[in-house]
Amino acid sequence: MRTKKISEYETIDFSREDKALLILDQTLLPNEKKILRLVRVCEVWEAIKKLRVRGAPAIGIAAAFGLYLGAEGIDTEDKEVFYRELEGVKGYLASSRPTAVNLFWALKRMWERALELKGEELEQIRKELLEEAFRIRLEDIEMCRKIGEHALTLVKKGDGLLTHCNAGQLATAKYGTATSVMYLGHEKGYDFKIYSDETRPLLQGARLTSFELHEAGMDVTLICDNMAATVMSRGKVQAVFVGADRIAANGDSANKIGTYGLAIMARHFGIPFYICAPSSTVDLNTESGEAIPIEERPDEEVTSMWYERPMVAEGVQVYNPAFDVTPHELITAIITEEGVLYPPYSRSLRG
Ligand code: MRU
Repeated sequence: MRTKKISEYETIDFSREDKALLILDQTLLPNEKKILRLVRVCEVWEAIKKLRVRGAPAIGIAAAFGLYLGAEGIDTEDKEVFYRELEGVKGYLASSRPTAVNLFWALKRMWERALELKGEELEQIRKELLEEAFRIRLEDIEMCRKIGEHALTLVKKGDGLLTHCNAGQLATAKYGTATSVMYLGHEKGYDFKIYSDETRPLLQGARLTSFELHEAGMDVTLICDNMAATVMSRGKVQAVFVGADRIAANGDSANKIGTYGLAIMARHFGIPFYICAPSSTVDLNTESGEAIPIEERPDEEVTSMWYERPMVAEGVQVYNPAFDVTPHELITAIITEEGVLYPPYSRSLRG
């Protein structure tokens, strides 16, 4: 029997019949493709926290459906009680991860929709919340495709493209952000040579990006994070495309740890460095990167998680920030569904 390719799976979907959020468990990839059916808010929270579903846009979509599941689970006929409890669900889901603003953006959008519906019957409110979550998912697909179309105007056939972490199909509803240019280019015969950083410590580049691009038939080469400078120095990279978890009003962009270093290297070698993200990742309320909360994750992700035996002596201190912030000066352009935005970002992002 032919095994289904990753592109034939939905990263994140919802079953109306079962009232269940369906996610591909990314902690098991690339070895096992398993769909999880989540019906309780605490299951959605756990899936986001543990990176079963991950990547800024996908986290937002999962949280939107999570809020709907929360609304379904509130057992009351009293609207005041309903709204109070729904606000609690919103706060709970918002506590799952701190950096990707799409999480807060999606929850805010769902909450505002719920407030608009205050005059309706509870059953109607729940129904409309589900439709809003579906809209968020659908819009994500459209935004990602547009990001790819804009990005394609910046590259040539045969270019070498480098990416970090996974800003791919697995981080969104489809296409990815940074990989959208790769998917669309592949459809049009651009014949890119893609380099994927393995992305220590959680290996999203190795486990996810190289996997999804390889299964899609692209020419992708996996490198360890510390090999990027060598690859660039040999003239193999014509552009760097990465995603973002939050873009501050001045263009400073938080993304997976290691992105900042890549931006410095790209500047050194004169290679354009592009951030790709939907407008839901732009946070105009955060003035600069300094104010972006950076998640710190458990030590074992660095010391032992991927090894048969721990690779670090007991008691050694570990620092494990999950993201870094690339200063806007190092970013050649930010590509959203609206187009290619150039500095000064404090003006172009607001526009
Ligand atoms: O910790 P993760 O795997 O959720 O981090 C993901 C990233 O840093 C992505 O690059 C970012 O969310 C953009 S996804 C389109």
